[in-house]
Amino acid sequence: MKRLRLSFIALSVFCCASAWAEKKLTNEQILGSLLFQDANLSWNRNQSCSSCHTLTPIAKMGKPFNRVPGFVDPGNVKNGTAVSTGSFVERHGILNAPSAGYAAYSPLFHWDDSEGLYVGGQFWNGRATNLTGQAKQPFLNPVEMAMPNKWSVVSRLRENQVYRKLFRDIYAIDLTAVDFYPKPPSEPVKNPAAVENIYHHLAKAIGEFEKTRSSINSMLNSIALLPGKPLSRQSRKKVSTCLTMSTKAIALLVISVRREKT
Ligand code: HEC
Repeated sequence: MKRLRLSFIALSVFCCASAWAEKKLTNEQILGSLLFQDANLSWNRNQSCSSCHTLTPIAKMGKPFNRVPGFVDPGNVKNGTAVSTGSFVERHGILNAPSAGYAAYSPLFHWDDSEGLYVGGQFWNGRATNLTGQAKQPFLNPVEMAMPNKWSVVSRLRENQVYRKLFRDIYAIDLTAVDFYPKPPSEPVKNPAAVENIYHHLAKAIGEFEKTRSSINSMLNSIALLPGKPLSRQSRKKVSTCLTMSTKAIALLVISVRREKT
C-alpha cells in the first residue's frame, strides 16, 4: 500500500512537472506558436494551422458538455463533416485532419519487421519525414492555405514587425532582405536562396512549437513514448493489462482513504 501511495505521488509530481515545463516556451517556440495561429499566412487571410488543428478542446455538435481534446478540425467536430474546407471555402481536401498532438512522437517513416508494416512519418501516408518537412506543405496546398508560392508566404511574414524582430533575434535573418511579393504572380522569385532559408525556418519554428503541444492523455501512450525502442504489439498488450490493474488499485486506494476520513 505504501509503495502504491509513493508511485501515486511520483505520478502526480511528474504530471505537474510536465505541465510546468510546457508553459516555459523558448523564443523559437513562441514564434512557432504565433505562426501556427496566424490566419494571414493563408491566401484569403482566413485560415491558420490551428483552424484545422485547434489548440483548445471543442464541444461536439449538439453536445456542449461533451468536449474532445484540441488538435482536430473544430468545423468537422461541430458539423459532423469528414473533411476540412480550405482558405477558399468552396475547396476541400479528401482526407480527415488528424490530431497534430501526437505528431512530434512519430518516428521517421520506416518498415517495422516486428509489426510487419510501415510506421512513422507525417501525414496519413508518411510522405513528410519530420515536423519541419510537414509544416512546409499546408501553406502551398491549394485546398488548404492556398498561397501561390514560398515567396508570397515570406512576404506575409515580412509585413509583421513581431516576426521581423523574432527572425532577427532567433535566426539572425533579416526578413526585409526579400522584396514584397507582387500581384499578379507572374514575376520570377527574387533572391530565391533567402526565400528558401526563411521558409525553412518558418517551418522549423512551427515544428519546435508542436513539440510543446503534445496531448498525451493516456498512461499507455506515455509509457509507449518513453525514449528507447517502440513497444511491440505484445508488450503494449501486457502494459495495457497492468495499467488496467493499477487503475483499479488506485481507485480502491482512493475509496479506502475516503472511508478512513469519514
Ligand atoms: C484545411 C485544413 C488544414 C490546415 C489549414 C492545416 N492542416 Fe494539417 N492536416 C490537415 C489534413 C487533412 C491532414 C492529413 C492530410 C494527409 O495525410 O495527407 C493534416 C496533417 C497534418 C499533420 C500530420 C499529423 C500526423 O499524425 O501525421 C500535421 C503535423 C499537421 N497537419 C500540421 C499542420 C500545420 C503545422 C499546419 C499549418 C502550417 C497545418 N497542419 C494546416 C488539415 C489541415
